[in-house]
Amino acid sequence: MATTQSRSTTKDELLSKKKQFLMPCYFTFYREPLWIDRAWMQYIYDEKGRKYLDCFSGVGVVNCGHGNPAIIEAASARALTLDHTTSIYLNEPMIRLAERLANVTPGGLGKTFFCSSGSEANETGALLAMLSTGRGKFIAFDAALHGRTLLTMNLTGLAMWQTDDSLAERVLRLPTPNCHRCPFGKAYPSCSLHCAREAGEQIVRSGPDQYAAFFCEPILGNGGIIPMPEGYLELLGETLTEYGIPMIVDEMQTGFGRTGRWFGIEHHSVEPEIMTMAKALGNGVPVGATICTDKIAASYSKPGASTFGGNGMSMGAALATLDWIESERLIQKAETLGAFLADGLRALAERFGCISDVRGRGLMLGAEIVEADGIEDPERTDAILEKMKDRGFVLGKTGERRNVLTFMPPLVVEQRDLEELLKNLILVLARVESGE
Ligand SMILES: Cc1ncc(COP(=O)(O)O)c(C=O)c1O
Repeated sequence: MATTQSRSTTKDELLSKKKQFLMPCYFTFYREPLWIDRAWMQYIYDEKGRKYLDCFSGVGVVNCGHGNPAIIEAASARALTLDHTTSIYLNEPMIRLAERLANVTPGGLGKTFFCSSGSEANETGALLAMLSTGRGKFIAFDAALHGRTLLTMNLTGLAMWQTDDSLAERVLRLPTPNCHRCPFGKAYPSCSLHCAREAGEQIVRSGPDQYAAFFCEPILGNGGIIPMPEGYLELLGETLTEYGIPMIVDEMQTGFGRTGRWFGIEHHSVEPEIMTMAKALGNGVPVGATICTDKIAASYSKPGASTFGGNGMSMGAALATLDWIESERLIQKAETLGAFLADGLRALAERFGCISDVRGRGLMLGAEIVEADGIEDPERTDAILEKMKDRGFVLGKTGERRNVLTFMPPLVVEQRDLEELLKNLILVLARVESGE
């Protein structure tokens, strides 16, 4: 386990150099930025050696825990044997990982392209959809986040993460089916999935033959932990199938056990034609992948490769990550501990009026923080985040209005960690509600 380093710089110096040498787009949480110095499994430590429970996994990446020795050793062993070549030579780990992914992903997904990030994986998904349909436009939710490249930033509906909107005319935005704040003012299930019917009609009205793909996260992560309502994808899927529009499921945050299944889409009865993944696939070692059906893959036959795609070290890390998820039964753990945490958060929502909704699946949960009249309350969310940090718990924050407390701890977290988390949340919520 890594220990605190002796260092020759102060926090003020570091902040001043950050300003001098890093792009201004890098923002930090908290009144005073948290300086994370080292990490071990579900815990992170600041520069003074203070321990925190990591409830965000930076973001949804370290499902198997920080510094997991089994994964680091496998990646190092691979790197020491053969660090990097390129995909123009045969590379066994790359082929083995593609085979493993074909086995763990649902339906007819079977052919993989490797890259190094989620944005690239989504770009590849978009390319495959364009090649196989001969069309050039996309459909995505208004609270989606799909990446930072030019196209994926335009697929992103969240204004905060959309620095460029020059490709906006290529994207049809669907209202996010958020049952807590229904865009149509209806209530589930008496709504009979009005939102899915509307979405289908919006696609048909706008000319369905122009769409190469529909992008979706099974639970919108940055959008505020919004799970697809039960039946939504199935109903909208009928329109997609009718007009030959492939579904691209972005499993960046929901993949690799996070929701209590290998992949978030497995909670729904649909078969996406394309799936994209990154983040937890390498448990911190950069690796992204796009997997699709044989039929769609057949359209990508011109030479294509990504320099780091299939890199020995990242393949070693990803193979060990899949092994660890299986051997440690992390998927079952996410389901059981997720239910425990969700019950605890729901009990808090009964007691504290500032929590208007608790939602999510497995260990991907959100609690929406509101004012007395139900309006989103980002200031109070920040106050809770700050006080929880002071007590040794680093929570996430998501949502269009940044008012959703987000709980995505490494899946190696223990029940006693979650009990401590809930105990401390009670104290903090009581203080925040009393105006302290
Ligand atoms: C759902 C989703 N898709 C895509 C991305 C982009 O991934 P990356 O930052 O690895 O490019 C993210 C990143 O947060 C994400 O949450």
